[in-house]
Amino acid sequence: MDVLRLVSVLETLPTDRTRLLDNLGRLRREVGPIGPELSDALADHMSIRRGEVHEVVSFYSFLQVPVDAVRVCTGPMCDCAGSRELLLEGCVEVPCLGHCDLAPVVLDGDDVRGGVTYSTNDGPSTGLATRDDTLSDYERRGGLSLLRKLPPLERIIEELKTSGLAGYGGAGFPTGLKWEAVARETGRPYVIVNADEGEPGTIKDRYVMELRPHLLLEGTLIAARSLGATEVYVYLREEYAGSRARLAAAIAEFGTAGLLNGLSVELVIGAGAYICGEETAMLESMEGRRGMPRLRPPYPAQVGYLGRPTLIQNVETLAHVPAILRNGGAQWRELGRGLGDGVRLWSVSGAVLRPGCYEAPNGITARALVEEHAGGFTGEPGAFVPGGAASGILPPAALDVPLTRDALTDWGAGVGSAALQIFPRSYSPLRLLAETVRFFAEESCQKCTPCRIGNRALHHVFEELQHDRTPMPRHQIEEWLDAMHLTSICGLGQAAPYPVRNAFRHWPELFESLDRPHTPAE
Ligand SMILES: Cc1cc2nc3c(=O)[nH]c(=O)nc-3n(C[C@H](O)[C@H](O)[C@H](O)COP(=O)(O)O)c2cc1C
Ligand code: SF4
Repeated sequence: MDVLRLVSVLETLPTDRTRLLDNLGRLRREVGPIGPELSDALADHMSIRRGEVHEVVSFYSFLQVPVDAVRVCTGPMCDCAGSRELLLEGCVEVPCLGHCDLAPVVLDGDDVRGGVTYSTNDGPSTGLATRDDTLSDYERRGGLSLLRKLPPLERIIEELKTSGLAGYGGAGFPTGLKWEAVARETGRPYVIVNADEGEPGTIKDRYVMELRPHLLLEGTLIAARSLGATEVYVYLREEYAGSRARLAAAIAEFGTAGLLNGLSVELVIGAGAYICGEETAMLESMEGRRGMPRLRPPYPAQVGYLGRPTLIQNVETLAHVPAILRNGGAQWRELGRGLGDGVRLWSVSGAVLRPGCYEAPNGITARALVEEHAGGFTGEPGAFVPGGAASGILPPAALDVPLTRDALTDWGAGVGSAALQIFPRSYSPLRLLAETVRFFAEESCQKCTPCRIGNRALHHVFEELQHDRTPMPRHQIEEWLDAMHLTSICGLGQAAPYPVRNAFRHWPELFESLDRPHTPAE
């Protein structure tokens, strides 16, 4: 370790506890992977107990990994595309790198090997097909009009409610109600943009940040200004170097153009922990602790960052706000299809001709999404995932079901983060299930016993089943699923049973041995 370098970097690092993650990230980049010596030196510098800093370091996947490491994605879609063959010695295996349209994905340091390409369409709300290189590009295309002439807060909330916009981070909470809840609180709120995008299959927020960062900033600043916030944070996953550069440049442009008006907009860079996308885990992470979810209530709208009311909103949700306010909530709502309200960005990956990110109506079916936007199927489709790992695993018969919460409930699934993944017939649903549960097991924050042990146990069961061994009978698995769903404190443990139950229901022949006396593993 270069001690002189360490000392000179430490001198520049702030000592407030909320800067812990950022400081660790800077040390990793500027000095080297965070081993015990660096961790202790930073703890002493920030006057935090050494054990507490070590605890934080060990929570994140990347702090102990060199910045120039080669990272290979082995999420379900990359696994299906053969990524395990790319795992050469010295490579780091990671669960999802958020570039599923390019599977199999390898990150060489910050760079996506092979380069990034975009496949998209020109939707009416986010207009992704045209990239804004500069703030002037954005303004020429009609941007900034709302920020320059902000409607009253009551009208904004009314339009959001009329639009039916419901958070696109996965939980689907009505956006207008959330803004109203924050506005009702006393005290200056914070605004946090959730740009952690870690759900396997989900690439849409990256598209927004890389193609239309100014649109995201306009939506964000409308929220901050109208709610009276003066500090905005964007919590961005570490793997998105391209988004980071685009956002940093756009924030600087807004500042130079005098559009920030005393507002600060800061990037907080994650360190490889999927669970930090859960909003309360994110708050813990930002406050300098391990990213473990909090019990709710209270909700962040009431008691959020540093105890103050906080609006936490997904990147894409905020990117729709300018169009809703410009054209009216009712008109935006009409863009939906059937019983769906409005439009959203669908991440489409797998066995389709043009994997990418497409703006299309809520209520569209998976088949229409593939055929109307992603160029069609490349062969006979097999199992598909409608909206990210926890949304479920469905058979081809469900390709014609409208992708809405209500319609998918009948199939025991959900829309989640709208990450449609089409697997080819050749990829076994059992392997897909095993890989999905492996993801949950590896990304569980370990706080709740049912989630910590349940996901590991299930992963073991499905791995064994692939080798014709049945280490646990079905009734015991069912008990685990109930306990996980009912007693886990966050969405990860609560939703993990969905894909398992889907697979039991739609591919019963793969699980028949669970009903026979079980064979313990050797
Ligand atoms: C395990 C887990 C991971 C999550 N990851 C993300 C994420 O990466 N991005 C995101 O916007 N929301 C994520 N969420 C949802 C957030 O907790 C929260 O609902 C969302 O940021 C609110 O914004 P929205 O209402 O605009 O969707 C996750 C939730 C859970 C349970
Ligand atoms: S459900 Fe799982 S991920 Fe969520 S808090 Fe509990 S242990 Fe952590």
